[in-house]
Amino acid sequence: MTHDLTRLVEHVRHQSRACHELGSPFYGVLLAHVADDVEAGGPAADVLRDRAGDPGPSAVALRLVGTAHRLALAGQAPDLAAHLPSTGGDGDPDAAWPALRTLLETRAAEVRAGLELAPQTNETGRSAALLGALLHVVGPEPLPVRLWELGASGGLNLLADQFRYVAADGGTWGPDSAVVLDPAWDTVPGAAPSDLSVIERVGGDLSPVDPTTPEGALRLESYVWPDQEARLARLRAAISLASTVPVRRVRTGAAELLDSLELAEGALTVVWHSVMWQYVPRDEQERVTARLAQLGALATPTSPLVHIAFEPRRLAPDGDYRFVVSARTWPGGQELLLGEAPAHGLPVSWGTPG
Ligand SMILES: C[S@@+](CC[C@H](N)C(=O)[O-])C[C@H]1O[C@@H](n2cnc3c(N)ncnc32)[C@H](O)[C@@H]1O
Repeated sequence: MTHDLTRLVEHVRHQSRACHELGSPFYGVLLAHVADDVEAGGPAADVLRDRAGDPGPSAVALRLVGTAHRLALAGQAPDLAAHLPSTGGDGDPDAAWPALRTLLETRAAEVRAGLELAPQTNETGRSAALLGALLHVVGPEPLPVRLWELGASGGLNLLADQFRYVAADGGTWGPDSAVVLDPAWDTVPGAAPSDLSVIERVGGDLSPVDPTTPEGALRLESYVWPDQEARLARLRAAISLASTVPVRRVRTGAAELLDSLELAEGALTVVWHSVMWQYVPRDEQERVTARLAQLGALATPTSPLVHIAFEPRRLAPDGDYRFVVSARTWPGGQELLLGEAPAHGLPVSWGTPG
């Protein structure tokens, strides 16, 4: 085996272990078969060989299974679909492997084309963190809200006020909705208003997905791991809601999007983002921070600004990364650490993370 193929096997095995640990035993087992096949010089090696030098972050293993998943979800790989939980199959990853192997062997060109697409996810569970933070800071009689999201992917979290939230203590917030986040929080934020009027929804992303198109919806669904059925169910519910609520999706980097934002009299301007900051280059992060401070300096009680983030951060210099919910409000510019949650946003525990 060449040096690059040895690295590739290591990468696929690493991804297999990660899937086991992060809640997809199905991909854990399936990717172990893929790694064995690359090692044995089988069809997985043939398909992946050209990408063997890709850096780890390009996640070639997830591109491969995402491509196969997309074909199965689209009804174009029935033998594989017969074993995927997401397509009503038997959920047996050992039985799925021969079907995947045949797919790699007989439709290599299609699979190679699919490998060009970077994995793209939009996790609606993170609305629990984003919207919950907003409920914490808006007060009982909020101004109309303008929602601007950085790294919005499909913009599904811009529909956060349209979801229903169920807290572990039995409290609820939000309208009746096809999207129910349960449990979203340990408790409903204390000062939460009974509803919010959202008058503007703008999502910027370098690689936006339009979930209201069949291709966009399929793309988002295909990167959810097929045995994570609760995630897939809430994604599908949010996708169906997306076609009823207008969102302006812009292909742009975070800093450029903010350059086009101005505050508005009589409205609360909200800039939020989740699990995207680590992908933003340092100089662009600095531009975003500077622009928020610039807008913040212009904020008044009748044109306030809030910056909400749900991002991994270290609370101590040598501590672990934790997914922290924070909010900074202007006038004033004080940052509050409001709570923390697992990576997919559910459930949020409120209180300053210790
Ligand atoms: C892990 S996804 C998270 C998507 C969404 N925020 C969520 O939580 O479901 C990260 C997103 O950030 C976007 N992204 C990465 N770098 C960016 C940048 N510099 N400006 C804007 N978006 C960016 C990616 O295209 C991707 O959609």
